[in-house]
Amino acid sequence: MTATVEHRPAQLAPPAVVLREVGKTFGTGPDAVTALRDIKLTVRAGEFVCLIGASGCGKSTLLNVVAGLEEPTTGEVDLRTARPSFMFQESALLPWLTAGRNVELPLQLSGVGRRERRERAESLLSLVRLDGQGRKRPHELSGGMRQRVSLARAFATEPRVLFLDEPFGALDALTRDTLQQDLAQLCAGRERPVTTVMITNSVEEAILLSDRIVPIVTGPPASLGSPIVVELERPRTLAQLAHDEQATHARAHVVAALTASMQRRPRTSSTGAPTALSAAEPAVSGKPA
Ligand SMILES: Nc1ncnc2c1ncn2[C@@H]1O[C@H](COP(=O)(O)OP(=O)(O)O)[C@@H](O)[C@H]1O
Ligand SMILES: [Mg+2]
Repeated sequence: MTATVEHRPAQLAPPAVVLREVGKTFGTGPDAVTALRDIKLTVRAGEFVCLIGASGCGKSTLLNVVAGLEEPTTGEVDLRTARPSFMFQESALLPWLTAGRNVELPLQLSGVGRRERRERAESLLSLVRLDGQGRKRPHELSGGMRQRVSLARAFATEPRVLFLDEPFGALDALTRDTLQQDLAQLCAGRERPVTTVMITNSVEEAILLSDRIVPIVTGPPASLGSPIVVELERPRTLAQLAHDEQATHARAHVVAALTASMQRRPRTSSTGAPTALSAAEPAVSGKPA
């Protein structure tokens, strides 16, 4: 379970999540807020996609729609993979259960016997550097440790698809760095690569973890900009990326896309036509030319 597997190139894998012209409007009449418009996205099996954008731009709305937690107002979401798992900014652990029992819970709910689920929880807690902490309750753990428990819980059922909404957004920078690298290791250590859609506001996090980074063009309504492909083997480390030429190029492209998105922000036409970057724009490779 911990061996690094050969990842099939994402472009050869079948689509796992497909969004067709997805839009989301909250409310009706003059108070209606159109949070998303014309979102087209295909995530292939085993691919790790980061959706990156500024605070309030519609990231959580987009993830909730992608994950099937919210219905889109227009368009279609085609989720072609089973066994989803979730992780959010707040750890959402049950406070009356120990860390170990929190990790065991999804296994218990899927009928795994007591002994097996206990062993799996222990092994997962060890992978997220929480050896010997399984008997503690959430209030006895730091914020970073609670997110480690959430990470272990997210992997407990060997998910085929992971939906992550800024899971490390509330952590201090150093804790965040180690958790990101643990996530990279956990994703790479599966028997089958897990399809992952992650929301982030961190360029470094996106480059560390993903095969493809899709900038969210700030609205409202938000739309998607041209994806940036990071063609480096996963798992990566922050140390490796610090001086890597492709990472440097990917970083520059992402920052340029986000800056352009912020500058385009106020331009909504009176007809309501999208003024943001078109989702059909071709992907940019992080590879130096
Ligand atoms: N349930 C809701 N009802 C009304 N408006 C909402 C709702 N959820 C989100 N919004 C609006 O949609 C926009 C995007 O919000 P959100 O997706 O939470 O942004 P982010 O996660 O990027 O911070 C915001 O303008 C927010 O006020
Ligand atoms: Mg959010």
